[in-house]
This record gives sequence, structure tokens and C-alpha cells, in this order.
Amino acid sequence: MTAPWTERNGDFSALKAITFAGVLAPGVYFTVRYFQGALDASLWQILVRESGLWAIRFLMLTLAITPLKAILAWPQLTTLRRMLGVAALGYTSVHLLAFSADLTFDLGAIAAELAFRFYLAVGTIAFLIMVPLGLTSTDAMVKRLGGPRWKRLHQMAYVIGFLSVLHFFLLLLKLITPEATIWAGLFVWMMAYRGLAFWVGRPGKWWGLGLVAVATVSTMLLEAGFFLFLSTLGTDRVFLILSANWNGQAGLRPSWIVAMLVLSLWIIGIARGDYKAMVRGRA
Ligand code: HEM
Repeated sequence: MTAPWTERNGDFSALKAITFAGVLAPGVYFTVRYFQGALDASLWQILVRESGLWAIRFLMLTLAITPLKAILAWPQLTTLRRMLGVAALGYTSVHLLAFSADLTFDLGAIAAELAFRFYLAVGTIAFLIMVPLGLTSTDAMVKRLGGPRWKRLHQMAYVIGFLSVLHFFLLLLKLITPEATIWAGLFVWMMAYRGLAFWVGRPGKWWGLGLVAVATVSTMLLEAGFFLFLSTLGTDRVFLILSANWNGQAGLRPSWIVAMLVLSLWIIGIARGDYKAMVRGRA
């Protein structure tokens, strides 16, 4: 049994120690604020929001490990995947607990909310799939299930990623936050990256640039499409949202942030001079 800050052979790992501190930090920060009396009567709502945000961040980082380790030529990143995944499950559990506490643990009210609000039903399905993945994340369970079966089961992480992004994205109607759109765009990039590595075999650098374009355009379309289909805005207003991506009047747009991040990764891949090897990085 190794500690969260050690390698399998027991050696201290600075990378794992920093990541461990990073996954605990939001929880510690929240607890300190609570004891300082900085959280008012809406404690549960604040906890729902904060834990939800950290759950999705750690989940997306878990899914980003495969492309990042290949692009940055940093295989040790794989050793962080389990810790990040478990952190995502931990923060989602706190999220569900805070949501239930906000409804005074009234099981009837909780069940009604989960069943009749679409975004909550989507979040609940994501959580229900997360639980078996968390429970089977130990070495003993990998052994017990056998490599291929364990891998097939853990591929459900993509489904969790999709449902979690959808859950967050559907909240745009209530909370206009750019983060939901940014994660949606980055999720498209991650999935397109994996699809490319799986289907195309040995793509060249232009495929990588294509991924940048796909992620950027998808972010713009997802944002505008969301307001077109789920809100009462007319098509003229939707065109305004779309045009804000290139007229620069609305400040830094989610599509620009996505474009900058994935373009930087593409440039790093090119600088390493081996984009082909990068895309073929093993999962
Ligand atoms: C267990 C089932 C879940 C329930 C009952 C649930 C419930 C909620 C509720 C009530 C909100 C707040 C809505 C508001 O502020 O009005 C919320 C927001 C959120 N949830 Fe969940 N959720 C669930 C699963 C998930 C999962 C699996 C994730 C991601 C891993 C997630 C991530 C988020 C995020 C990012 C927000 C928005 C936070 C913010 O910016 O305010 N949730 N969820």
C-alpha cells in the first residue's frame, strides 16, 4: 500500500505530493472559511456550487492526462490519474450531500428534484456511473477484474465526462458562466484527439491543427446553439452572441480561451518535432 505522495516502490514523488495537496486544497480552503464564519446562511448552496466546480475540474483533468502526457512527453502524469479521478468522485459526493442537506435530507423532495429536473437527472446518472469506477480503482480490483475488463469498465469515464459537462452546460440558463462553455469546448478537443489517435493511426501535424479548429468552432457553436434551442432568444440575438467571437466587443470569449489553450498544446507538440508520436501516445 503506497501513500498518495509516494511511487509504487515507496520513493517520495514531488509530483504526486503537489497533486495531493492540490486536490485537498479546495476542501481545506472551504473548511477554513466556514470556521472563520465567512459563509453565511446559504452554506449549502455555496457548498453545492464550489464542490460541483471542483468535481468537474478534477474530472476534466483526469480525462486530459492521456493527451497531456503525450504532448508534454511526460509519462509520469499517468501516476496522477487515479488520484484525480478519486478526487472528482469525492467532490461529487460532497456535492450530492450538500444538495441533500439543502433539502433537509427529505428523501421525497430529493427524489422528486432528481427525477423531474433534467439537468439533475443527468448529473445523477454521471454520479451513479462514477461510483463503480471509484470502487474499482484499487490495484486489487484491477487484478481481480483483469486488465481488459477493467479498461473497458473505465472507458465509461468518457460517458461521465459527457454527462457532467452537459449537467454544467444546462445550468447556463441559470448561471451565465463562461467556465461551462470552456469545459464543453475542451471536452470536444479531448474526445476528438482520442478519436483521431484511435481511427487515423498516424496523423500528421495538420490533423492537430484541425483539432484546434474543431474545438474553437465547436465552442462558438455550442454557446450560440444553447441559447438558440434552450432559451427564448431570437435568431438575431443568437447571431449577436456568435459575432461577439470575432468583433472583440464582449471581451475574452470562451472560444478564445479554448483556442489559446489547445493551440499552445499544438505548438508544444510541433516544437517537440514529433506530432505523430504525440497523437499515438498510449492511453
Ligand atoms: C449526484 C448528482 C448531482 C446532483 C444532485 C447535482 C446537483 C447540482 C445542483 C443543485 C447544482 C446547483 C444549481 C444552482 O446553482 O442552481 C449543481 C451545479 C453544478 N454541478 Fe451538479 N449535481 C450532480 C452531479 C454532478 C456531477 C457528476 C458533476 C461533475 C463532475 C457536477 C458538477 C456541477 C457543476 C460544475 C455545477 C455548477 C457550479 C456553479 O458554477 O455554480 N454535478 N449541481
